[in-house]
Amino acid sequence: MVTMAERPPHDRPVRLGFVGTGHIARGAHLPALAELAREGAVELAACYDLDRSAAEGAAETFSIRMVYDDYRTMIEHEPLDGLYLCIPPTVHTDVEFLAAERGIALFCEKHQSLYINQVVAYERAIRAAGIISQVGFNFRYYPSADVVRDLLRGSTVCQVVVNLLSRSPYTRYWTARYELCGGTIVENTIHTIDLLRYWLGDIASVSAVYAWGHRGETPDAPNLPEAYAVTYRFASGVPASINLSRSLTESSVGRREVLLVSDGALIEWSPGRVVMDGQTFWEEASAGGGYGSHAAQDRAFVEALRTGGATPTKSPYSDGVNTLAAVLGANISAERDGERVRMDDVVAGKVTWTPYEPVLG
Ligand SMILES: NC(=O)c1ccc[n+]([C@@H]2O[C@H](COP(=O)([O-])OP(=O)(O)OC[C@H]3O[C@@H](n4cnc5c(N)ncnc54)[C@H](O)[C@@H]3O)[C@@H](O)[C@H]2O)c1
Repeated sequence: MVTMAERPPHDRPVRLGFVGTGHIARGAHLPALAELAREGAVELAACYDLDRSAAEGAAETFSIRMVYDDYRTMIEHEPLDGLYLCIPPTVHTDVEFLAAERGIALFCEKHQSLYINQVVAYERAIRAAGIISQVGFNFRYYPSADVVRDLLRGSTVCQVVVNLLSRSPYTRYWTARYELCGGTIVENTIHTIDLLRYWLGDIASVSAVYAWGHRGETPDAPNLPEAYAVTYRFASGVPASINLSRSLTESSVGRREVLLVSDGALIEWSPGRVVMDGQTFWEEASAGGGYGSHAAQDRAFVEALRTGGATPTKSPYSDGVNTLAAVLGANISAERDGERVRMDDVVAGKVTWTPYEPVLG
């Protein structure tokens, strides 16, 4: 186990490696880290992707020093301080264990894996090794997340209502397949659910009902639930209802609401604005854009490495286990016709989600 004392602050750029250089690596992390490299805080040392052309493209665009054909060789040969793991959730194997064994800090994109038993084993190894870790729950890095957190100090939340009614396009093949991404609640709404946890603590149980659509006449077409009605109970007793759908295909309107009913006030959160009792309480001065929070979490990860962990990350790997259990638990409940599922039982493997190909039509 690495202790704080054995992780001295670095007075040189921290050396980073990447496993997976797809959409999120190239669209969010690498641009932010390249900026930090220009500031002298980071060295983009090495990368690997199963698709070598993706790694080469990233290396060329972001001046990553070495492209590897094999992540094990990369981890063995490069004296890395930190490793970004940005691969689809069904293909995780031993990178987490290798990082833990070698004392390399790990930034793991959400969702940590689609299989909770893997994540429980990774978490144990990461915790035992004492490495710095972070899961890519970037919503915690919106300044508005801390505005609400501060507002809630000293008040009691009695109910949460989340409505996410939209039509968002599926940008990658695996995000359109239930068995590959876990559905929209797992792949996407996990961010909002994690944010609720940032404010309200752990989730104790879930009950969910889904409606399946009839799209998908070819093997490649989306096969996801279209509507989700999910009820969480936090360990504190607070209930939260999440209504989610992506079926407004012909409509120009949608709704994205995160509402907190506290003792005496209605708080409405969105990334750039916090509204209290109908009045703007806080508004972001300059729009940071969707990826502003990604850049902030990359800075935080690098800062944690540079200070030897003295400035902790907001979403360490251990903390993310409850968030993952909450979304996988919703799938388990939906497949059991809304039966209430306890997070402890999901984490212990007493109830499991087995991705399957649903029969459409
Ligand atoms: N935090 C966010 O807002 C956010 C946004 C998008 C994606 N993500 C997450 O980031 C992760 C990656 O998603 P993405 O959008 O970049 O996907 P992607 O499909 O665009 O890229 C994944 C990359 O991983 C590579 N890859 C696949 N299997 C691999 C393996 N075994 N070893 C090494 N490389 C492998 C692929 O070739 C591809 O280049 C997912 O977990 C996803 O949920 C997070």
